[in-house]
Amino acid sequence: MRGFLTQSASSLRRLSVALPPQRVSLLRRAFIFVVTLIVVAVAAPRAAAQKVELSIDASKPGAKIDRNLFGQFAEHLGHGIYDGIWVGSDSTIPNTRGIRKDVVAALKAIHVPNVRWPGGCFADGYHWRDGIGPQRVVRLNPDWGGVIEPNTFGTHEFMDFIDQIGSDAYVSVNLGSGTPHEASDWLEYMTAAQATTLEKERAANGHPAPYKVALLGLGNESWDCGGNMTAEYYLDRMKSFSHFVRNYNPAQLEKDQMLKIAVGPGGGEERWTDWTETVMKAYQQHTWSWDINGLSMHNYTVVKWPPAFKSVGFGEDEYAQILKTTLEMDDLIRKHSAIMDKYDPLKKVALVVDEWGGWYAPLPGSNPGFLVQQNSLRDAILAALNINIFARHADRVRGANIAQMINVLQAMILTDHEKMALTPTYYVYKMYVPFQDSTYLPVTFEAGSYKHGDFSLPRVDALAAKGKDGKLWVEITNVDPHQAAEVELNVTGINAKSALGQTLTAPKVDSVNTFESPDTVVPKPISASAQGGKLILQLEPKSVTVVAVEP
Ligand code: AHR
Repeated sequence: MRGFLTQSASSLRRLSVALPPQRVSLLRRAFIFVVTLIVVAVAAPRAAAQKVELSIDASKPGAKIDRNLFGQFAEHLGHGIYDGIWVGSDSTIPNTRGIRKDVVAALKAIHVPNVRWPGGCFADGYHWRDGIGPQRVVRLNPDWGGVIEPNTFGTHEFMDFIDQIGSDAYVSVNLGSGTPHEASDWLEYMTAAQATTLEKERAANGHPAPYKVALLGLGNESWDCGGNMTAEYYLDRMKSFSHFVRNYNPAQLEKDQMLKIAVGPGGGEERWTDWTETVMKAYQQHTWSWDINGLSMHNYTVVKWPPAFKSVGFGEDEYAQILKTTLEMDDLIRKHSAIMDKYDPLKKVALVVDEWGGWYAPLPGSNPGFLVQQNSLRDAILAALNINIFARHADRVRGANIAQMINVLQAMILTDHEKMALTPTYYVYKMYVPFQDSTYLPVTFEAGSYKHGDFSLPRVDALAAKGKDGKLWVEITNVDPHQAAEVELNVTGINAKSALGQTLTAPKVDSVNTFESPDTVVPKPISASAQGGKLILQLEPKSVTVVAVEP
């Protein structure tokens, strides 16, 4: 290297004799710049891979990691439903009875366990009769941009969509502006098998067989957009809805019973802990006439309100801050679980985190009421960290719905007319499919720390489980955007011979998939075979990896 530099300097000197002084100075500066670059590149230390020993104890299985932790949320908001799912049967976009075929195929591949619908805030203003029959009621959507709500996507269209993607319905009834009577009629309309007037109306509208409603939301954020209620007032209304809103589907009377989810907290402050106390204390004393099976919790990763962080075009500062903030999910779950444990030590009531995800500034030029944002590698890592938190609390957290499925907030899918792109978060959901209904296995490791500015967070995270397929599945997130991780996997009781799976990373923390470049952030195969009795995985910086360990 020294020889090259000396030779080049003397060549420059030779050249300077022949050229005018101005050109020489320009040349000299260019030369110095190039040399500096070379020196920096050569001198910069290559970050050594961080060594992580990861031990899994397959002999101590924990709770079931409920498939409902991988639930989705689809609200009548922006292009979440219209364009995202529904294009109408006369559209040139390939569809089945008005529902996009490309979106259905993509969602089938991630085995969506349930879809929460029709909101969100929208649910507490929704009147189900507007969305059935040949004549739909056209209204406004005051919560989200004040746009026209045509109600062309209603109960039958939602159930058709659920059926096409092979998922379950999580229906949120209107407890805010509706009545128990209205909600009770809706459930009878959807689920009755006997020849009632509502059952006949459903049949006349094209569906003689009763629908299955797996989960029922008793309102949404009743402390805010759902009616600004006190906990006590909500409790009274909720009891009444819980009693009168019945599921009549004969197939759900014994097993597969519909689970009722009450509105729960939206944060960790006293107002929210009081809310959880009020609902759970009442649950402890509940009589035969009302019941709940879950308490909802909403927690977005947002940092500032209104959301100001960019969803693309950000650097390491915002990467570190968002991921640090997202880890607060763990404390929040602990806090509310502790209250639930007081009143429900047998953990009959699930904590259902039915709205969560990164919430950033709307993309420039988009309708701010449509909550349009991009989805980057950072979101993939954010998703993995949260799913792992849910799984570690799987004995209490038995449901979660990321917000929202298509075109809204931290989406799986982005569409624009006939175009569709799958997001980095989508690929995380795909890679985690083997964890659905798997059994949690304890995993120990020294995480180390990734530090940036004032932020310090665990460098790696990991989850292990025994899948329904009998295989041992391991997920490892390398949060550090600079340093690779060399992970040594030790499994008690198993002589691991190899590991095979997929890893997701990208050139930058804010790399995204676009309609023009849809494959910037896509999983790639990864494998390792045991050497000297050790199974070693080399993980890229800022990556999410899922492997099956083979004995
Ligand atoms: O997901 C967007 C909105 O966030 C939902 O409608 C509401 O429940 C929450 O505040």
